[in-house]
Amino acid sequence: MSKIHAAITAVGGYAPEYILTNKELETMVDTNDEWITTRTGIKERRILKGEGLATSDLAVPAVNELLKKRGIGAEEIDLIIFCTTTPDLPFPATANIFAHKIGAINAWGWDLQAACSGFIFGLTTGAQFIESGKHKKVLVVGADKMSAMIDYTDRATCIIFGDGCGAALIEPNDEGNGVIDSILRSDGAGIPFLHQKAGGSLKPASHATIDAREHYAYQEGQAVFKFAVTNMADVAAEVMERNNLTADDIAWLVPHQANKRIIDATASRTGVTADKVVINIERYGNTTNGTIPLCLWEWEKKFKKGDNIILAAFGGGFTWGSVYLKWAY
Ligand code: UT7
Repeated sequence: MSKIHAAITAVGGYAPEYILTNKELETMVDTNDEWITTRTGIKERRILKGEGLATSDLAVPAVNELLKKRGIGAEEIDLIIFCTTTPDLPFPATANIFAHKIGAINAWGWDLQAACSGFIFGLTTGAQFIESGKHKKVLVVGADKMSAMIDYTDRATCIIFGDGCGAALIEPNDEGNGVIDSILRSDGAGIPFLHQKAGGSLKPASHATIDAREHYAYQEGQAVFKFAVTNMADVAAEVMERNNLTADDIAWLVPHQANKRIIDATASRTGVTADKVVINIERYGNTTNGTIPLCLWEWEKKFKKGDNIILAAFGGGFTWGSVYLKWAY
């Protein structure tokens, strides 16, 4: 009997309407379009505006689109892995809030926190549930309302991040397509360079933490950049080598969209040519858990059945990794 793989069978995406351009950022902090464009590749990002709207509200339209495409109802989903760094609430899990909103009454689920690597951690985790035969329809959501934790007086972070969501449905595949291999890494030595100082059990919210602006994302960009350039590129190359793949065998490289220069370094290390690298950073910035599934969603029509695709990510924690999958439709 051939091995069951977990294959992506549908994708959905959603980017909120409001467009925060580099020009508008120029009016908010001491920056300029030229600096942002040359240092990051970002021109604009989307922001979820409106009272009472949270990360789960980014996921609802994305997943409703996915379900419609796949022609199934929410009640058919077995498991929801909700990858996010900006949960609606500290608890309960956004997976629960979201499942209730879309009517996924037969699913269980949880939130997965691996910062920008969340989606590939979630995809790999979900794949195990499919491969084991335990579940038939697993939804992996990557969503973040980064604007909820960004300090719009800090030019080092506010220019990079945006809000958005992408989602993938995975199902059993016996044709050899789906998730073939992944290499994932976590290293807490990276904590000082990218974290949120307060709001957890270490330092619960207080007047003092708010006055000290400790509820915003804190990043030492240059340090993160150095680790990201090396680790994301190396792990993508490693997963290719382990599967005897050369750059010519790769149809698409789908990297996390944090900085165009990190994407270029990953492409150059793997040898994948620019025409095969999926990039939408100029329009969305870094949507954290949303970047990779948003890319899959936007490129879906260009993918062909059997295409070898490499996903690669690097994020806070540090976390990083790469997934090798064969497109299934
Ligand atoms: O998503 C996963 C994790 N995150 C990442 O992968 C992000 C990794 N880091 C980066 O993408 C980059 O480090 C940044 C885009 C955040 C910063 O770019 P950089 O090239 O590393 O800039 P830098 O921090 O080394 O700063 C260079 C100069 C500094 O000025 P001086 O000291 O040379 O005079 C900064 O003050 O650029 C200045 N600068 C800015 N200037 C205009 C920093 N931010 C800005 C800005 N506009 N927004």
